[in-house]
Amino acid sequence: MSAVHRVGREVIRQRHSAAPIVHARQQPLAPERRIRHDSGRLPACPAGLTCGAVQSNHVRQTAAAAAFAGLQCEAILEERVNDAPQEYQESGNVFLDKLFGIKLHRVPGGTAMDAALESLASKVLERGGKPYLIPGGGSNALGSLGYVDCVLELQRQCEAMGLRKPHLVHATGSAGTQAGLLAGIHALGLDWPVTGIGVRASREVQETRVHDLALRVLDLLGVEQPLPRAKVVADDRFIGAGYGVPTDAMVEAVQMLARTEGILVDPVYTGKGLAGLLAMVRAGSFEPDEDVIFVHTGGSAGLFGYQWAFPQAAA
Ligand SMILES: Cc1ncc(COP(=O)(O)O)c(C=O)c1O
Repeated sequence: MSAVHRVGREVIRQRHSAAPIVHARQQPLAPERRIRHDSGRLPACPAGLTCGAVQSNHVRQTAAAAAFAGLQCEAILEERVNDAPQEYQESGNVFLDKLFGIKLHRVPGGTAMDAALESLASKVLERGGKPYLIPGGGSNALGSLGYVDCVLELQRQCEAMGLRKPHLVHATGSAGTQAGLLAGIHALGLDWPVTGIGVRASREVQETRVHDLALRVLDLLGVEQPLPRAKVVADDRFIGAGYGVPTDAMVEAVQMLARTEGILVDPVYTGKGLAGLLAMVRAGSFEPDEDVIFVHTGGSAGLFGYQWAFPQAAA
C-alpha cells in the first residue's frame, strides 16, 4: 500500500506491486503466468493469442509479457465503443501494443470473441504455429491466481498496518480480478468484504460469472470449502451507457485523484471503480471505523486514448 487518499474519509490504495513487466496495469499476472507456465517448454508455445476491447490493458500487458518471454503474440481487438475518435483507435494501449510488436486483428462490436480466438488459433495451426490461447482479461483460474497473490501481499501489509478486516473495493470486468481476490480471501479464512464495481455486465450476470470463476480458482488451489454466493458483490450502477463509454462520475473521479494525489486511474476500469467508491463514501455505505482499501489495478495508459472525454483538462 503506497498511498493514503482523502475522499471524505481515509481510503487506502493498494497498488498491486507484483508488476515486473509494465507499470501501468497492475494486473499483469494473468498473461504473465499463462506465458511463463508454458515458457519452460518454449517450443510448444511460440504464439500467445488473446483478445480484448480496442483499448484493452490486458492485451497490452500480454504483448509486453510476450516480448519479455520472446514469444510471438497476436490479439483480436473488438470495437466496443461506438463512434470513438481516432485517438481511441490509435493511441494509448493500441500504440503500446504496436510498440511491443504484436499483430492486431480488429473485429466489430458484438463479435463472438471466444469463437474468433478459436478461428485465429486454427489459422496459426494451419501455418505450422503452436497457438496458446489466453482468454480476455486473462480471466481463467490460472490467471486469477495473480489476485490470490495480491491477497497474500495485502494480508502482510494489513498486518503491518494493524488493519484487521479491510473492505476491498475495485473494478470488475472479465471477472478474474474479483474471483482471485475472493478465492484468496476465502482460502486464507479471512472475512474481508469485497465490492466489485462493474464496468460492463449487469449485477446478476457479473456476480454469477465471478462466483463460477472463484469456484474454479478454489478448485485449483485445492480448497474444498465452497465460497458462498452471497460473498460476491458486483455493483452495476457505475457502468453508464456501456463498457468503455465515459461517464461524468468517472471523469470526476479521474480528475479528483489526479489533482489531489497526483495518481492516475483509467477511464474504463479504475476510473469507474473509483467513482463507485466515491459514491459509496458519500452515501455513508461504510462503517465509521471500517478500513477501506481501493485496489488500484492500473490501466493509466488507456487515458491517452481518451483525451476526448476530458475537455476540461485541456482548458
Ligand atoms: C485496469 C484494469 N482494472 C481492472 C480490470 C478488471 O479486471 P477483470 O477483467 O479481471 O475483472 C481490468 C480488466 O482488464 C483492467 O484493465
